[in-house]
Amino acid sequence: MARKDLHEEPFDDSTIAKLEIFQDYAKAWIPTFVMQPRVSTICIFDFFAGTGYDKNEVPGSPIRILEEIKKQIGNIFKQKVKIKVYLNEFEPEKKDQKKFELLNQACSEYLENNQDVKRAIEIIYFNEDFENLFSKLIPSIKQFPSLVYLDQNGIKYLSDKYLLELEKLKQTDFLYFVSSSYFLRFGNKPEFKEHVDIDMSLARKDPYKCIHRNIIEQLRKKLPSNTDLKLYPFSLKKGSNIYGIIFGASHLRAVDKFLSIAWRRNGINGEADFDIDEDFAKKQDDMFDKKLTKIDQFKENVRSMVLDKAITNNFELFSFALEHGHIGSHAADCLKGMKKNGEVSFEGISPLVTYDNVYKNKKKIEYQILKNETQ
Ligand SMILES: C[S@@+](CC[C@H](N)C(=O)[O-])C[C@H]1O[C@@H](n2cnc3c(N)ncnc32)[C@H](O)[C@@H]1O
Repeated sequence: MARKDLHEEPFDDSTIAKLEIFQDYAKAWIPTFVMQPRVSTICIFDFFAGTGYDKNEVPGSPIRILEEIKKQIGNIFKQKVKIKVYLNEFEPEKKDQKKFELLNQACSEYLENNQDVKRAIEIIYFNEDFENLFSKLIPSIKQFPSLVYLDQNGIKYLSDKYLLELEKLKQTDFLYFVSSSYFLRFGNKPEFKEHVDIDMSLARKDPYKCIHRNIIEQLRKKLPSNTDLKLYPFSLKKGSNIYGIIFGASHLRAVDKFLSIAWRRNGINGEADFDIDEDFAKKQDDMFDKKLTKIDQFKENVRSMVLDKAITNNFELFSFALEHGHIGSHAADCLKGMKKNGEVSFEGISPLVTYDNVYKNKKKIEYQILKNETQ
């Protein structure tokens, strides 16, 4: 399959959207661990790091990682946390590894100009095929809290042998990039199936634009039944192609952070840089033929679950929200509305559907049903 090199031209809008999401996650992830009293070292792995900048000097993933470290530099020194940054770039069929040289040059220059970052981190460069490097670095990924970027071309490295290895890593969050619509074009070919085996009849049951979400639904089924790993999609449209990010983490704090970033990027669906479920049209439908938008449908589901007593407190409600790809505030808005309508009562003004209330402060409140007119 002939592939265009991302670094031959300036980054396009969807590449920049992807890089911004990568960067936003680093921005949320770094302080979480830097501020934890018992954490001595954290690691960031960028296995497909590219050249550092594009043709127009727009930063790529490695420079964005360094920029986010810089923003936390005061806390990093204060907390005496060591940061190890592992950067890999490799061009499989080339003798001259020009991109690797550019990467090295770009990061070295950044560090020369930012001596504080240079002092705070250990940077380790690799010029190796991901296929060999991944298993070599697994022990290092396991050792400390780690953030792993897998910004591959195509789909190849989404195969079970990598995904199921990542599944075992309990203190690792990862962000994959996948050319999802390639599945619809090549998914039945044996050389494609050998890497990632997806059920093509299932893949084709949803509209083309939903392919990234569909792939993730299928990947979830490949995970062990008792897994803690949670996977979430963010679809990106470029011309007629659909690409996407797969976010993976075992910890609900990580999920909460990723979903907050995703919903900030798209307040209508929280999972794409386009109107994946045609929610704009749903908002404009006339009163008599109104279809619910994604958020309104979620709130309706929450309302029924609360009225049916399937959800009785903020702990259950927060888990329900994250499990369905929503942020706590969507669920909280619903509960506030129910309180205003006299359907439920709870102590105080807020239904406390946030990570901090549930997991950090362990503040549990019960929701009492006052009237259930659905019965
Ligand atoms: C999508 S680009 C990554 C872009 C990068 N994150 C950035 O922000 O510029 C994928 C990169 O992986 C490199 N690559 C391709 N095959 C590889 C392999 N088998 N192992 C490691 N790197 C590879 C490519 O040369 C390319 O620079």
